[in-house]
Amino acid sequence: MCGIVGYLGSKEVVPLLLDGLRRLEYRGYDSAGITVLRNGSLETVRAEGKLDQLVEKLAGHAIRGSYGLGHTRWATHGAPSEQNAHPMVDSRQRVAVIHNGIIENFLTLKERLQAEGWSFTSETDTEVAANLISSYLDGDLKEAVARAAGELEGMYALAVVSTVGEREIVVTRHGPPLVIGVGEDEQFLASDPAALLAHTKDVVFLENNDVGRLTPEGIEIWDAGGARVERPVTRLNWDPIQAEKGGYKHFMLKEIHEQPLAVQETFAGRVDFERGQITLEELNLSEAAGRAIEKIDILACGTSWHAGLVGKFLIQGLARVPVEVDYGSEFRYRDPIVGPNDVAVGISQSGETADTLSALEAAADRGARLLSICNAPGSQIVRMTDGVIYTHAGPEIGVASTKAFTSQLVALYLLALYLRQIRGPALEPERLRALAHLPAAVDEVLGLEQELEQLARRYSRASDFLFLGRGINYPIALEGALKLKEISYIHAEGYPAGEMKHGPIALIDEELPIVAIATGDRVYEKVRSNMQEAKARGGIVIALTDRDPQEFDGIAAEVIQVPRVCEELQPIVNVVPLQLLAYYVGVRRGADVDQPRNLAKSVTVE
Ligand code: G6P
Repeated sequence: MCGIVGYLGSKEVVPLLLDGLRRLEYRGYDSAGITVLRNGSLETVRAEGKLDQLVEKLAGHAIRGSYGLGHTRWATHGAPSEQNAHPMVDSRQRVAVIHNGIIENFLTLKERLQAEGWSFTSETDTEVAANLISSYLDGDLKEAVARAAGELEGMYALAVVSTVGEREIVVTRHGPPLVIGVGEDEQFLASDPAALLAHTKDVVFLENNDVGRLTPEGIEIWDAGGARVERPVTRLNWDPIQAEKGGYKHFMLKEIHEQPLAVQETFAGRVDFERGQITLEELNLSEAAGRAIEKIDILACGTSWHAGLVGKFLIQGLARVPVEVDYGSEFRYRDPIVGPNDVAVGISQSGETADTLSALEAAADRGARLLSICNAPGSQIVRMTDGVIYTHAGPEIGVASTKAFTSQLVALYLLALYLRQIRGPALEPERLRALAHLPAAVDEVLGLEQELEQLARRYSRASDFLFLGRGINYPIALEGALKLKEISYIHAEGYPAGEMKHGPIALIDEELPIVAIATGDRVYEKVRSNMQEAKARGGIVIALTDRDPQEFDGIAAEVIQVPRVCEELQPIVNVVPLQLLAYYVGVRRGADVDQPRNLAKSVTVE
């Protein structure tokens, strides 16, 4: 979703803004722009399309200056076009605004401003914010922004510069994140810390409704009531090199390869293999509170929701606690039954997904305790929940989630084992030892890369794919289908293998590849029968199995053989070949795998 960057200091601002925007490209966007302040006037250049188009346009403008704003836009109000790109300048050319989010009452405000004589050149809600702020600007930009924000309804993160007053950037947020990078005699601003890492590791996360003012000397912050407040400076331990491609063609491929390390980092330090114990310090869940839990609601979106479905198997199976899993966008609308002894667990890579955050709020309103599983330190979800299990996957840049997903599965396994430890029955040491073997198993499955590249070559022209799984691997079938859709734009469906006969079986013909996950013992025979049913109707069966490939002679056209781990961790191993398959099919079809069309990495609007 929209990317925001800002800089104020003594360096040349244009290259800094473009560099920041490049680092945010992964969030997804369809137009971009920058504004630089020079000699008391605003110079704004915007372009539809990718950053290269903006760079091309900038070549015709010798813009210099030492402070300004940059933006990548993911269209909500108004089509993706230069006209609707940010920054938006008010009709009196006094302020430039960049915005992430949706201002819900923008039409009412627009009509009022039009009646007052303000004019509009775009269809965006952002231009309303620019004119509104300008209408209140009487020398003090911070006051004008605070007053305007008081009238805005919806979700927004705003950054504003002005020709009136001092060298300053004023920011505010309600919903979408804003983070300030603290430098020496210079300040940085971004919607995501990934854009700041190359410059500083000391960051300040703005709280909801804060108004912040950045000057070369420092930052000042006021809360919603207008009182001056200090917000803590957080030191990020992310390595900026981690956020680079490191020799891989795409971030997605690099991140797929980082999975052995990501899963290991996620359980490292939390498992005492000698004493057979799990410690989850940041979870803030006492043994008594853990024992009192009556039900867990897992709330998430997209790939994180698939992790939640696996989590249901893990937590119910290992700790015998009832679990429900909801889409963040659905939970609030089904009048959920949540009691004071219930816990809501939000799963989010970014920690900023608006639907997941709203669902958690709805659970809190009904008295639930809130926990989170998250990959982004200091993000909104972490700040609104009582405890967290961080996935230590490092920054994930590819829009399609890979290493964050497998790390979420590890975090859910740890949560399930922790609950088993405190609620009984006793935690068996072999369940922990299984974790110790996991990174090597994931590494081994990465060795199938070439095989999968060839497989992708054979099937990249298919127009549909079916993914089947059962039990704990049903969510992996969903995830396999989602990855393929996201990355290659091939229509794909994930289905519980046993349900195939109730619908998808009608789709099977000689053209349809059917990836069937047949690992473990519990449902192996059943899935094998389902594969036979598919084969009998002419389908091209691709078996993903931990068994001898010969068992699929006469049934499967292709066999992907993966190492066997314990049943609860097998989904982590199984998903890796599906990620690689999607990746190579996407590459083969010439798709933009790191930034698929229409998708955003972090969806901060509902
Ligand atoms: C977007 C991304 C997905 C992601 C989902 C949830 O749709 O494209 O990859 O799974 O958001 O994101 P979260 O950050 O909450 O895990």
